[in-house]
Amino acid sequence: MDSRAKIAVFISGGGSNLQSLIDASEDGRLSGEIVLVISGHDNAYGLERAFNAGIDTFVYKVKSYPSKEDAHRDLLEMLKEYEVEFIALAGYLKLLPPPVIANYKNHIINIHPALLPKYGGKGMYGSRVHEKIIKAGDKESGVTVHLVDEIYDHGKIIMQKKVSISPQDTTKSLAAKVLKLEHKLYPEALNKLICETKKI
Ligand code: GRF
Repeated sequence: MDSRAKIAVFISGGGSNLQSLIDASEDGRLSGEIVLVISGHDNAYGLERAFNAGIDTFVYKVKSYPSKEDAHRDLLEMLKEYEVEFIALAGYLKLLPPPVIANYKNHIINIHPALLPKYGGKGMYGSRVHEKIIKAGDKESGVTVHLVDEIYDHGKIIMQKKVSISPQDTTKSLAAKVLKLEHKLYPEALNKLICETKKI
């Protein structure tokens, strides 16, 4: 029996962070196994990444249920069915339903492409974040991994790393720099959370 922590990853898009978690799980850097990938969109490329890795997927759309409560209940039931212990948000653009947050307190993390608490909150995602940082003339940016609560980009920070911004940097070059760091940091941060929580 596989005693590694069971993880669900939530995505909305390309899923390059999902891929970094899959790779880390496969090569032993992550003491956990991704058992389920949940996407908010049915055309997310990350679903293909999951499929290629042999991981079950589920497209979760609140609108396809008779009520919000039904949707929330179904999602929680699915997580329980897969015996999910930890949740990693990797580009998931929505807030998780309150029952999921309550059931998985201190077991959900998110990665954000900036140095929170700066440049976070609703609507701060994707290239918008880097655009704002370049416009503001900041000298540094970075990556934050934090616990998830009911507020966007708000929970306790568990890991943060900086990148420096040069005068030549553009929104695009900064995004690439930050994303590269994300791929290194996210498996490390998730592994840290798992090991500290499970005392392994
Ligand atoms: C990443 O920049 C992450 O920090 C943010 O959403 C983006 C997802 O990218 N939360 P990807 O789908 O993992 O490539």
